Amino acid sequence: MKKQISLWLIAAVALLAACNSNQNKTPEAGKYSVTEKSFGVFENQDVTQYTITNPSGMQVSIINYGGTVTSILTPDKDKKMGDVILGFDSLAGYLQKGNPYFGCLVGRYGNRIAKGKFTLEKQNYQLTVNDHGNTLHGGLKGLDKVVWKASKPSGDSSLKLTYTSKDGDQGFPGNLEVEVTYTVTSDNALEISYSATTDKPTPVNLTNHCYFNLSGGKEATILDHELMINADKFTAVDSLLIPTGLLPDVKGTPMDFTSSKKIGKDLDSVKGGYDHNWVLNRKGNTLEQIATVYDAGSGRVLEVFTTEPGLQFYTGNFLDGTLHGKNNWVYAQHAALCLETQHFPDGPNQTSFPNTILRPGEKYSHVTRYKFSTK
Ligand code: BGC
Repeated sequence: MKKQISLWLIAAVALLAACNSNQNKTPEAGKYSVTEKSFGVFENQDVTQYTITNPSGMQVSIINYGGTVTSILTPDKDKKMGDVILGFDSLAGYLQKGNPYFGCLVGRYGNRIAKGKFTLEKQNYQLTVNDHGNTLHGGLKGLDKVVWKASKPSGDSSLKLTYTSKDGDQGFPGNLEVEVTYTVTSDNALEISYSATTDKPTPVNLTNHCYFNLSGGKEATILDHELMINADKFTAVDSLLIPTGLLPDVKGTPMDFTSSKKIGKDLDSVKGGYDHNWVLNRKGNTLEQIATVYDAGSGRVLEVFTTEPGLQFYTGNFLDGTLHGKNNWVYAQHAALCLETQHFPDGPNQTSFPNTILRPGEKYSHVTRYKFSTK
């Protein structure tokens, strides 16, 4: 009898251990895996951190609070892994007031809508405003500040996040069903695939807000990173970063990144630093490479591909050294750069800009790929 009980006990312990290791299995070299761990609680909902590892060891961690990418580990030219995005160690970091949208999903409307107002089908809408009287990144409580439902598609290479933004959320019309899938590909890319449907016409402009520093913590700023953006024009803005409607040529100006140049080269001649939307040179909406970043120190290269017509290039101008991030990093001004693939800012009020209104029966879709390599 005693022997039987102990055998049962051993079996139960083994089963428990197996379940546990399934929850938190250590990545096996040469294979895909998705592990998960608790990351806290927000508004009575569990926040989980999912880590996707690809066969060559690239690792991307994502939490379902804000669909936030919390780390991206990629190799440098000496095959040393390093984290190439800014972020925090704990949920408290992401919840703090000054979190400048580190790594999160942005919506319903990325970037600014002037005075938070627009008119659609003869009806006036007023959104919540959060940036000098304008609406930035979806308003006071955008898609970056909610808990998404997460699921793991088969194949262990992706994480699917869904969220329903209710009719009237932040002032936007229509129930918006949003789905975002993060996939880590075998060639070291993080691919983000967005889709959305609505039951009333409504503006939609989704993006991701990763702050990249390819040095992996070695360089305090990205001023020595080299950048190419395939764009001949940008959207001119007023002092509150609202588009004027003009699309000036970049040629011969500090905005010209058509050939790769150091970000710091002309930065001082751009008031406040780079925080503009480039009008990408492209036809149609196929996935095309539109930007390349290179950090000579680490040898890391980031190539950006998108189906979107615009790219917000932001040089972390509002970072001021007060935020302390993961690994005890201090985030000084220009500690990182954002490359937010998107439709143009203030689209709902600018008739000459590409359409941003999604209607019932239509499907919003957008794919962006951030591909890492070394040279
Ligand atoms: C905007 C900046 C803003 C930042 C928020 C960027 O997308 O263009 O103006 O300050 O997001 O951290």
